Amino acid sequence: MIRVNENYLKLQTSYLFSEIAQRVADFQTARPDMEIIKLGIGDVTRALPRACIDAFHRAVDEMADDTTFRGYGPDQGYPFLLEKIARQDFQARGADITEDEIIVSDGAKCDSGNIQELFATDIKIAIPDPVYPVYLDTNVMAGRTGSFIEGRYEGILYLEGSRENGFIPDLPPEPVDLIYLCFPNNPTGVTITKPRLQAWVDFAHEHNALILYDAAYEAFIRDDTLPKSIYEVEGAREVAIEFRSFSKTAGFTGTRCAYTVIPKTCMAFTRNGDRQSLHDMWLRRQTTKFNSVSYPVQRAAEAVYSEEGRAQSQALIDGYMTNADHIRAELAALGYECIGGENSPYIWVDSRTESWKFFDLLLEEAGVVCTPGAGFGRCGEGYVRISAFNSFENVQKAMQRIKKVL
Ligand code: MLT
Repeated sequence: MIRVNENYLKLQTSYLFSEIAQRVADFQTARPDMEIIKLGIGDVTRALPRACIDAFHRAVDEMADDTTFRGYGPDQGYPFLLEKIARQDFQARGADITEDEIIVSDGAKCDSGNIQELFATDIKIAIPDPVYPVYLDTNVMAGRTGSFIEGRYEGILYLEGSRENGFIPDLPPEPVDLIYLCFPNNPTGVTITKPRLQAWVDFAHEHNALILYDAAYEAFIRDDTLPKSIYEVEGAREVAIEFRSFSKTAGFTGTRCAYTVIPKTCMAFTRNGDRQSLHDMWLRRQTTKFNSVSYPVQRAAEAVYSEEGRAQSQALIDGYMTNADHIRAELAALGYECIGGENSPYIWVDSRTESWKFFDLLLEEAGVVCTPGAGFGRCGEGYVRISAFNSFENVQKAMQRIKKVL
């Protein structure tokens, strides 16, 4: 008899963003006259930078000629891309990361979801609440939790975010083995300073723990005193893995390119206490289950690092941040308390009511989609996340409509 992985039965019925998409589709069927503005899922809306498109086209043409055609690429990614990532994203900011410590992939979602395969099933995991659901759900699927009771999975140590701690969780009150952190944060949009990040790295050293650091939104950091990478903090090379993505940085959500950094000095342990290189284990996993990213896409990603590519990507980010500024200003004028949105494309709004109720109000009365905070965990109840990914015209229109219904 073929049997299922019963851990899947512990999951909530559907992935948060699928559930929202379904509710929006149902509403649109019922109200075809209503033009809907989506400020829900963090999906980019602006075209790829011209430099990326040009590089993409050139690479596609190379694939059309036997003499320049490429088949399978190198396991870790093409050296032309790895070298630029290492130099511009890390070394230029004083982070000691070399190109052989970077592994290219098709998404930070896949990597941050798949990485848990490297760890034992009986480790103690600390996960923020509210949280990007992928970290939690993938551990549920792998059997690292008990049942879902009163909005919480048994066996997980939840790192609670609240108005009081500014949604930056305190250090765990007890030793843990694996810690998920995301800054700028999804969903709250908050950022972390170097000293506070240092405290997490020190904690990981003290307990032989590992930090999984999701930096997918680093490009939105405008305050240059804030760390863009955990490797800007002392000692992180031994205790942290970092996830990065071109999705939000340069509009690659539909094009797919990302990378994971695992320093050669980053170790985990066997039951007997022997040190194992996580870099080697991840590479072993990826070479078994993945064939890297297509050549044209890696060429398009490489173009992000050219002079024009950098300027054009920055213009995209600046555009989204103008939206974020507008959303914050309008909500503040209405008396709503906002967190995030200063160095992040997400604005976390105290909705002063149940978050799904607020979601329904905005959808049904204003035709605007947001993301209910409760979907990110128990501590997200009472909040909604508004995303700045849309055109300025649509954001202005959305805010005008929201003003009328609040
Ligand atoms: C989000 O809206 O949280 C993101 O778009 C999800 C993702 O990047 O996978």
